Amino acid sequence: MKILLFGKNGQVGWELQRSLAPLGELVVLDSDSAELCGDFTDLEGIAQTVRAVAADVIVNAAAHTAVDKAESEPELVRAINALAPGVLALEAERANAWLVHYSTDYVFDGSGDKPWLETDATAPLSVYGATKLEGEQFIRQAGCRHLIFRTSWVYGTRGGNFAKTMLRLAQERDRLNVIDDQIGAPTGADLLADITAHAIRAARLRPEVSGLYHLVAGGETSWHGYASFVLDFARRAGITLKAAPEAIRPVPTSAFPTPARRPHNSRMDTAKLQHTFDLNLPLWQTGVARMLSELLEKK
Ligand SMILES: NC(=O)c1ccc[n+]([C@@H]2O[C@H](COP(=O)([O-])OP(=O)(O)OC[C@H]3O[C@@H](n4cnc5c(N)ncnc54)[C@H](OP(=O)(O)O)[C@@H]3O)[C@@H](O)[C@H]2O)c1
Repeated sequence: MKILLFGKNGQVGWELQRSLAPLGELVVLDSDSAELCGDFTDLEGIAQTVRAVAADVIVNAAAHTAVDKAESEPELVRAINALAPGVLALEAERANAWLVHYSTDYVFDGSGDKPWLETDATAPLSVYGATKLEGEQFIRQAGCRHLIFRTSWVYGTRGGNFAKTMLRLAQERDRLNVIDDQIGAPTGADLLADITAHAIRAARLRPEVSGLYHLVAGGETSWHGYASFVLDFARRAGITLKAAPEAIRPVPTSAFPTPARRPHNSRMDTAKLQHTFDLNLPLWQTGVARMLSELLEKK
């Protein structure tokens, strides 16, 4: 099997380089790759790349993910999050290839308190959410075989992440204010990558699984609950903190005004994914604890 991966240096792209390697020949690109175009603002270049590589599976981990910045550059965001995935889908259809793509809980308006189903009505609140939704729609319209995984609250071990920020702030300050009225599930880029590899194997044998799936870790929490878990873990690991977990004050979203509106309810129902691919999604605490162990060991 030949796999073409876009966005190799992102949180998910980095983990996909690991998880997809055993599946076959892997061609990996990012926005400034030299020989083949991996820049999603160059739609013709992207189409030429897909034709030149002639992969069996195209995996798209590239996206414009700066949610607040997106509000002030909607045309660029639309090119990266919607138009380029649309080109990938048309080229996949032409080549009879699979397209694997990631989307987001931000396609929903975050109302209510029930986990969102794949069949629920979408109503994005932000440029990021709207362009990610349009990307999904282009893929479906193109008619290629596809796997779209909607996920949320993604963290990786490389680069910055929420847990690292909380650890730093708790070492600098006595008190922290953290939002407690957005609910979701922190989901590891490693989990997303492992499940992607599993699903690709299954999809190659069972083309009827083509479709949209919600993919997040099990359980739910708020950013406040997430931060408390991180600091509690660090304290148990012997890290000296100025702010104890009990010193994190829960605050509403309105305490941190941002250019982009964020959904309050990011709960996602993953029954379809678990059933279709015969998978069990571990609790979010399992992945976060593992990430923290690796992080704190390095200190
Ligand atoms: N992060 C989250 O919390 C979250 C939540 C829900 C869904 N998702 C979705 O999950 C997927 C993976 O997200 P992630 O967290 O891994 O994102 P990420 O870490 O921000 O990585 C995004 C990647 O996209 C690339 N990219 C940006 N502009 C590009 C362009 N013009 N052309 C080509 N590549 C470009 C970046 O590469 P360069 O740096 O080289 O430009 C980067 O490697 C995305 O579809 C995202 O929408 C993420």
